[in-house]
Amino acid sequence: MTYDIILKELEKPSVFKNEAVLFPDYVPVNLVHREEQIRNLTRLFRIMIDSPGAILQRAILVGDTGVGKTAVAKRFGTTMEDIAKERKINLKYIHINCYKDRTFFLIIRKIAQSLIPNIPNRGLSVQEFFNLIWNYLEENNLYILLTLDEVDFIIENEALLYFLSRINDEYVNKKQRISIILITRNLNLLYEIDRSIQSTLLHNIIKFDPYTSNQLYDIIKLRSKEALKEGVIDDDTLNMIAEIAASRGDARYALELLWRAGKYADADGSNKILPEHVRKAQSDVFPFPVNIILELSLHEKLLLLSIASILKKSKSTHTNMGEVESVYNMICENKKIEPRKHTQLWEYIQNLKNIGIIQTKVINTKGRTTIINLTGIPAEKLESILSSEK
Ligand SMILES: Nc1ncnc2c1ncn2[C@@H]1O[C@H](COP(=O)(O)OP(=O)(O)O)[C@@H](O)[C@H]1O
Ligand SMILES: [Mg+2]
Repeated sequence: MTYDIILKELEKPSVFKNEAVLFPDYVPVNLVHREEQIRNLTRLFRIMIDSPGAILQRAILVGDTGVGKTAVAKRFGTTMEDIAKERKINLKYIHINCYKDRTFFLIIRKIAQSLIPNIPNRGLSVQEFFNLIWNYLEENNLYILLTLDEVDFIIENEALLYFLSRINDEYVNKKQRISIILITRNLNLLYEIDRSIQSTLLHNIIKFDPYTSNQLYDIIKLRSKEALKEGVIDDDTLNMIAEIAASRGDARYALELLWRAGKYADADGSNKILPEHVRKAQSDVFPFPVNIILELSLHEKLLLLSIASILKKSKSTHTNMGEVESVYNMICENKKIEPRKHTQLWEYIQNLKNIGIIQTKVINTKGRTTIINLTGIPAEKLESILSSEK
């Protein structure tokens, strides 16, 4: 039984070519719209290649969730590793997420384990781990570029301080073998640390702004080429995803929407990812609060119902005001309700847009047309909520 169910499911076609490309920990080779940050990092850390061991370099990457900080650090670090190798320099990149390893002990143990094979998991003190690491670096003439990601989660401030300064002091006159990238969502932590370190870090801040919808479009367009079969998704639908995610400027959100929408397409047996799949995906990630819909005025609900019933049938991302009005008038006639005037309807549309359940855009084709898209909730679900009401 189970065997057959699984086999049958596996035989179904899928919109994905390689879905792992859409997972959060996949690091793409090319990070579009982060060229400036990569250039900045290179300027700061080129000293590790030009004169290895000369100084302990430190930099800090700042920005909100999903703006590419982790991806840029990883891609930068591993690429520097490769370039160093070409120049016969032993450089190793180590990436530590302080959300997972929150204490000095855990961090130092992680570093030791990623460098030295067969290191014991227990029984060593921080100092012993540190000595092991240091000796290993000296013996192998090795340098480390260390990223402490989500550094705000380190519980002991001491640990951070240690990394930032004392690594230096303990080994005066020796080569500086560890350079550091810190990643944080805000700069608060800077104000808690030592003045001298603070000032170097303040000069080495690399900022990551939220992505615009155009940038998000470029990012998911590139990824979708690797992840999806050809022709599975239209540019309009990719744009819809980019616009939804642009409210947060968050590439992780955009990629998650794309992946989930693909899963819904597969579940539907559809060979294309359609706008309704995106809406379903969106309401999985951030469900639109149903009570807000229920508290709308009667005519706002009727307008929404019109939009939902058009988009449920359509495979396009959007409808337009003319279409919506004519369906609205029909529904009013059926329900024997006096329809509202055009100008009033515009106000309702504005309000629906403000609460985030629809998106509108004015386009210039033959004259100006307002196109309307439903984004907060799947059309089907909205229709069922609204039609179950009196
Ligand atoms: N410029 C970009 N090009 C391609 N993918 C990107 C880009 N920026 C972010 N991503 C992807 O978006 C997701 C979130 O990025 P991440 O680096 O984890 O963000 P952060 O660390 O700032 O929260 C990851 O899957 C990452 O690969
Ligand atoms: Mg991150």
